[in-house]
Amino acid sequence: MKVSEALASRISARAFLDKPVEKEKIMAILEGAARAPSGGNLQPWHVWVIAGEELARFKALIAERMKTTPGGEETEYHIYPPNLKDPYRSRRYKCGEDLYATIGIGRDNKPARLMQLAKNYQFFGAPAAMFFAIDRDMQEGQWADLGMYMQSIMLLAREYGLHTCPQEAWARWHSAIREFVGMPPELMLFSGLAIGYLDEAHPINTLRTDRAPFDEYVSFRGL
Ligand SMILES: Cc1cc2nc3c(=O)[nH]c(=O)nc-3n(C[C@H](O)[C@H](O)[C@H](O)COP(=O)(O)O)c2cc1C
Repeated sequence: MKVSEALASRISARAFLDKPVEKEKIMAILEGAARAPSGGNLQPWHVWVIAGEELARFKALIAERMKTTPGGEETEYHIYPPNLKDPYRSRRYKCGEDLYATIGIGRDNKPARLMQLAKNYQFFGAPAAMFFAIDRDMQEGQWADLGMYMQSIMLLAREYGLHTCPQEAWARWHSAIREFVGMPPELMLFSGLAIGYLDEAHPINTLRTDRAPFDEYVSFRGL
């Protein structure tokens, strides 16, 4: 698969087949993604991979906690800036509207929207999952490194016939995750990631998010 094909076919998948991911594929993806660049070659990433019975146990734990705390915990970092401004605000809004439209959930149907949102906390039915954390004393540059590492995983997943969904939503369950995986206090959870085989028949996976035109963010000089 060409890099361009991996990029073009990567989407945030939000429904997966009930089919386990082969351990060899996960290992090959992790091997490949370790080649991701990082400033000073710090490789400032920490990863947990969970599947099978352990994943079932973890999802059951979260489902139990959601009964008393449906909104999850206070996040340890701002998922978005406190007052998200335009054009970002409009882009975020449109992405949400387009997503709910694929499954016929209208603007006023808050319960249905919340139910869809809650599927994050079952990894959208994916058979395997990852969590990514970073040392608390790392700076903006290292967070960018972690993002590049995650993108490398997502692109390699395409080469192995797999799809992914990065999930900052898991920042709302950082303590539960810390307890479950035994994450040391000096690390901060950044994101989860669902990984598995795409449920192609599910309408939610028909979403193809749009992208801003170049004139909104690229400046060309001398080209
Ligand atoms: C770091 C990161 C965290 C994300 N967290 C979530 C999430 O918690 N739940 C979700 O459904 N999508 C999540 N997304 C997916 C974005 O909504 C998605 O990437 C964006 O809308 C573009 O769509 P595409 O990935 O299908 O191209 C996340 C994406 C990134 C990069």
